[in-house]
Amino acid sequence: MSNYYVTTPIYYANGEPHIGSAYTTSLADMLTRFNRFLGKDVFFLTGMDEHGDKVAQAAAETGKSSQQYVDDLAEIYRKTWKALGLDYSRFIRTTDQDHKDLVRALLQKVYDKGDIYFGEYGGNYCVGCERFLTDKELVDGKCPDHQTVPKFVKEQNYFFKMSKYQDRLIEHITKISPDFIRPERYKNEVLGLLRQPLEDLCISRPKSRLTWGIELPFDDNYVTYVWFDALINYLTGVDYPNGKNYQKFWPSCEHLIGKDIVKPHAVFWPTMLMAADIPLYQHLTVHGYWLAPNGKMSKSLGNVVDPIAVSKEFSLDVFRYYIFREMSFGLDGVFSNDTLETRYNADLANNLGNLSSRTLAMVHKYRDGIVPTPGTPGELEIALRTQAHNSISDFLEYMNTREINRAIESIWTLIDNTNVFIDRTKPWALAKLEKTDPTAKAALDSSLYTQVEALRIIAALISPIMPDTARKITEFLGYSPDDIAKEHSIEVVRAWGHLQPGTKVQVGETLFPRREKPVATGDTKVESPAEKAGSAASATAETTVTPTINYDDFAKVDLRVGQILTAERIAKSEKLLKLQVDLGPQIGQRQILAGIAKYYEPEAIIGRKVAVVANLKPAKLMGIESQGMLLAGSDDAGNLELVTPGSALPPGSTIR
Ligand code: ME8
Ligand code: MG
Repeated sequence: MSNYYVTTPIYYANGEPHIGSAYTTSLADMLTRFNRFLGKDVFFLTGMDEHGDKVAQAAAETGKSSQQYVDDLAEIYRKTWKALGLDYSRFIRTTDQDHKDLVRALLQKVYDKGDIYFGEYGGNYCVGCERFLTDKELVDGKCPDHQTVPKFVKEQNYFFKMSKYQDRLIEHITKISPDFIRPERYKNEVLGLLRQPLEDLCISRPKSRLTWGIELPFDDNYVTYVWFDALINYLTGVDYPNGKNYQKFWPSCEHLIGKDIVKPHAVFWPTMLMAADIPLYQHLTVHGYWLAPNGKMSKSLGNVVDPIAVSKEFSLDVFRYYIFREMSFGLDGVFSNDTLETRYNADLANNLGNLSSRTLAMVHKYRDGIVPTPGTPGELEIALRTQAHNSISDFLEYMNTREINRAIESIWTLIDNTNVFIDRTKPWALAKLEKTDPTAKAALDSSLYTQVEALRIIAALISPIMPDTARKITEFLGYSPDDIAKEHSIEVVRAWGHLQPGTKVQVGETLFPRREKPVATGDTKVESPAEKAGSAASATAETTVTPTINYDDFAKVDLRVGQILTAERIAKSEKLLKLQVDLGPQIGQRQILAGIAKYYEPEAIIGRKVAVVANLKPAKLMGIESQGMLLAGSDDAGNLELVTPGSALPPGSTIR
């Protein structure tokens, strides 16, 4: 299918945007960009749900008229989405005239067909959900989502014969379109609901109780129930029935929603479409909830994340990366500053950012910034090409099944492998050899070419997730701004060898600058046992076998996993390298001088995990402060090797 239609819920006009609505809308934007990457024409609809009790109550509290209140909020939403870089096709409001007309037309159609009748009903109404809850849905007499006791409402109303379509709906979900509702857990949840007989749906509100709504076309004493009104926005948005967008986009429609509104989307909406003789949407894709580290986010608890603040402190791309990568799609996710910092440092600064600057720096250092013609690929080149191929297919597959976090992981597998490729091919060593050895020259050309090709592919793959970073890297690689759309497409991604030898690349800027963290100083707890640890070490220097110590003595040493962020030589020292080492969120970043310059090239150890004595008293060496020590082993022959902790341990992990 060459077209793609994606929608978000239309948010209630009763409060400002927050991390939840920002997440779903960013997800729609990301899928929009992904589908453009696949070469499709995309329509992306978002907007606001402006009628009903809930909105009328919120407006009344401010003293504004309902219309004024929703007009003001719509502006705030539009501005927020703009600030978050979200590129929708239409911002729909249920107070738009074309929408009101369509709701009335469809009501009339279903009424004429005989699927709407007049009757009386009493039930428990939750204003938060804007629907009647069944006895089964109540927990201790309360709505489990809103923790409020619903109001018992009994009145004469119009009803939609939803029950009539129950069997057809089950058939559709189980047989006709097995991925109609995804992930699977929500499909099962819906099938669970459908095991009980469906009740008919009350679709009106008497004007005596609520006037803020769309008047029923067949009885002007009533307005339309807000969900019957709201769901139809998905058709209004593409100009049902006569607009060309309807023909073009409706067959590919995917609704994105949070887990709170599954029932209206999976039960009310498809049965409404059946009654109106309209083909059903393609997919309902359901995500979990963002929680705070201490539980549910709520205004009253004051723990609601402000997406704009986060994207200002880091960047839009970092915000997007975090929300898409951190949430296991379909499950709830915890939004925390700790995991945000960790992902920033580990995944972005140390991994992606480091790869980009390292590769570009080497092309400049060894080839004056010109992409070389690769020689015959060796084993390592072929392996990385295969990895690129596999990462691309994994990425596409996981994106298509909406396992978003997994899709992103597949890109990071390629990034990791490219970093490892660099470490294995050792361009710095080849550069030393190539003056005398022509095969080293060809090997260096191949290594550099393979790195930039991998980087080109990585940039294109991340473009739906981090459009700005993707654009920057692609421009670093010598492409002009006009090329970006073409470069970020599936065809070009699959074409290994697409980047032309002879291309001049830029040095590039640092994509994810190190975030300064306060460095632990003398008065922190890490500092105090250091003196003794220091003197113990020097006392043993002359003996070959060290006297036994108590565990308590050993426990004074704060050993941690660190990751080397940068490494450079120091003028006038043959022994020392100056390192910046990430010691995880608790300790932060440390500057450490290590006497390993004779054994390691600085470029070769960037990104490497090391074992660090974190509570050694800071000391100055050649006038430069060193705030810790790396562990290294040496043998009698004078070889030295850094101790390397396992790759699964993140920086900051304690070593015992
Ligand atoms: O339900 N985590 O509007 P609504 C993740 N007007 N997503 C969240 C979230 C959280 N903590 N909180 C909210 C309505 N969301 C109706 C929809 S559609 C025809 C009518 C997101 O303002 C998520 O997408 O209550 C959820 O489904 C939606 O906001 C609910 O928005
Ligand atoms: Mg809600």
